[in-house]
Amino acid sequence: MTLLHTPPHALPADWYGAAPAPIGVDQAFNGYVAATVVHTLDRLGVWDRLTAEPRLDIPGFVRSAGPAVRERVVREVLRAAAVCGWLRLEDGGDTAVLTDAGRETIRMRGYFTWAVGGYSDVFSGAARLATGEATFGDNLLRDEAMVALGSGQNDRPFMSTTLDEVLGDIDFHTLADLGSGISARVSRVVGDRPGTRGLGLDISGPATELGHRTIAEAGLEDRVRAIRADVLDVCHREAHRDAIAEVDTVMSFFLLHDLLADPDTRPHLFTRLREAFPAARTFVLADTMLRPEAEGSATLPVFSLGYELAHALMGVPLHTKETYEELFAAAGLHPVRTVPFGTPHSWLYVLEAR
Ligand SMILES: C[S@@+](CC[C@H](N)C(=O)[O-])C[C@H]1O[C@@H](n2cnc3c(N)ncnc32)[C@H](O)[C@@H]1O
Repeated sequence: MTLLHTPPHALPADWYGAAPAPIGVDQAFNGYVAATVVHTLDRLGVWDRLTAEPRLDIPGFVRSAGPAVRERVVREVLRAAAVCGWLRLEDGGDTAVLTDAGRETIRMRGYFTWAVGGYSDVFSGAARLATGEATFGDNLLRDEAMVALGSGQNDRPFMSTTLDEVLGDIDFHTLADLGSGISARVSRVVGDRPGTRGLGLDISGPATELGHRTIAEAGLEDRVRAIRADVLDVCHREAHRDAIAEVDTVMSFFLLHDLLADPDTRPHLFTRLREAFPAARTFVLADTMLRPEAEGSATLPVFSLGYELAHALMGVPLHTKETYEELFAAAGLHPVRTVPFGTPHSWLYVLEAR
């Protein structure tokens, strides 16, 4: 689907969501607990095991997980997942069987890695942020590795098909991914196209470490590099110019709102980006944007509320689709494609530098 000027009724149905607002107390409370269960089973590797084989032998799983693992706790979390309807416990409670609802939860688990793994301290610290006892970035932090991992987990199940289709029309040789997180996407894209090279730039040390691991596991150390770097330094202070001189295509996913946070540098950000990558003619940029009319909606989609609140608490403003398009135009970046990109209210642009 290519939409250049998108009327509201053409938005994908899941961007409106089906969760009712007002949210009932029972739904809010159970949703909170259930989200922690999803994340716990992800960290324990249970979802990976159930993806490979939908019947899990629980005593065998506990034995293989190591001597320190507490079987009682594992069983209680699995029981909670069964109460949520994601598993069925059989064989007297010794086998966990994945349900269809569980399969769907696994497909979307990146949202829970992002929210519970990445932002729990920020959400639970909101009162301290409000009273001034805590300051984000000082004595209250997000878990950067979990934020990057959650984004990476969402790539394959519901974004990769769109991106691969879009990149299919682009003739690239050297690709840079800005805010590359765990380098999952740049590794996948370069791995799928022989003869190409990739560079992942990310400000986070822990995410870059995970990136090195992703690249090694994909056997791409000779073609993909993950570098820890602040993209704003690359744009404004000439950092890493040698590594990026060859880049002909720049991609960035779910980072732009961070780069646009400072109102002083915002109007020129994309112009600086073009200057920083002088050989790049194509920019493939995606971000989650401000929802139109969020407060009046009778239903809620996954993710949007958490994304909006987390960034508000961190003091990072979000922008509408129109603002992005004005900023692209001011930098001479012309959209040749605009497509919805998986996560609600996220758009992917293919822009040509002219
Ligand atoms: C939401 S994650 C997205 C990760 C990845 N692009 C994806 O879609 O899976 C945003 C990433 O941008 C990184 N980031 C934030 N500010 C940055 C900056 N100024 N320079 C480079 N990376 C940055 C974060 O560390 C994080 O890994």
